[in-house]
Amino acid sequence: MRILLQPPRDARDAWCTAFATALPDAAITLWPEAPAETDYALVWKPPPELFLRVRPVRAIFNLGAGVDFLLAMSTLPPRIPVIRLEDAGMAEQMAEYITLAVLGAYREAGAYAEQQREGRWQPRARLAKPAFGVGFLGFGVLGQAVATALAPLGFPLVAWSASRKEISGVASFAGRGELDRFLAASRVLVCLLPSTPDTRDLLDRARLSRLPRGAHVVNVARGDIVVDDDLVALLDAGHLAGATLDVFRTEPLPPGHPFWHHPRIALTPHTSAVTMVDASVAQVAAKIRALERGDPVTGVVDRVRGY
Ligand SMILES: NC(=O)c1ccc[n+]([C@@H]2O[C@H](COP(=O)([O-])OP(=O)(O)OC[C@H]3O[C@@H](n4cnc5c(N)ncnc54)[C@H](OP(=O)(O)O)[C@@H]3O)[C@@H](O)[C@H]2O)c1
Repeated sequence: MRILLQPPRDARDAWCTAFATALPDAAITLWPEAPAETDYALVWKPPPELFLRVRPVRAIFNLGAGVDFLLAMSTLPPRIPVIRLEDAGMAEQMAEYITLAVLGAYREAGAYAEQQREGRWQPRARLAKPAFGVGFLGFGVLGQAVATALAPLGFPLVAWSASRKEISGVASFAGRGELDRFLAASRVLVCLLPSTPDTRDLLDRARLSRLPRGAHVVNVARGDIVVDDDLVALLDAGHLAGATLDVFRTEPLPPGHPFWHHPRIALTPHTSAVTMVDASVAQVAAKIRALERGDPVTGVVDRVRGY
């Protein structure tokens, strides 16, 4: 079987070695070497010319969970299945990141840090946990795994997705008609939606205003789901207490962007969950072996809905 590998640049050697070990029978070509045809293309944010020079015939594997970049490429071959990473070590990292943000919001870490800077000794009344709902905007592979990790902490859990979920301990809301009710129940809003034509700019002023006063927004999905100016306006107006942001419309976040120095925003450079080489290679290799046997695999992207 022929494989074209175009891995993330920072760990090229590790990806090559891991795939060679996991698929010893495969003939692996490393981009920018470009055979005219390959059975499988394994790519991470490929340059547009990749699909002009190499024709994948069986499947394209995205070496990440989000496929917005790939689906936006005009050179992406139309009919070949696109398969994404599912968890592959990212859910545990997301659980760590989001737990930190939720607990920081609940125990008012930002307000205490401010008081410390001012040299002010002032115990604050404990927030009521039953009213401190954690809302998952997007409740797929990562959202569900993070909710499972958070469950022992005792916060009410609510989720919003395209289709309704039956998961014990989680109140499920589905579709646009139920979005406002979901937002009203989310004291911490955790965005884990894919970026699609349907979700871009979803969190604008009107929607963010539906969150309860004092709410905290955590965006670990994609920057273009949030309208930056509207988020800043609601933080400045005091409707929102804080935001934890890992993803941005433009990355790296441009110097001078208002997020950089906003006192109620904590930001990280798209590191909430990084791709783990070994777990990802094991998953992709297992799916390639399944496809070679003629078995179905999960994680196949629906190009019409965009995830
Ligand atoms: N910051 C990082 O480092 C990082 C790392 C990994 C992933 N991500 C981002 O996280 C996203 C989620 O990953 P995942 O693996 O959990 O994806 P997933 O399994 O595909 O889950 C997506 C969820 O969003 C829901 N959804 C999609 N479009 C919707 C719409 N228009 N209305 C309502 N719900 C909608 C889906 O609903 P249904 O369940 O009903 O289909 C599903 O629950 C990725 O797309 C990626 O952009 C970021």
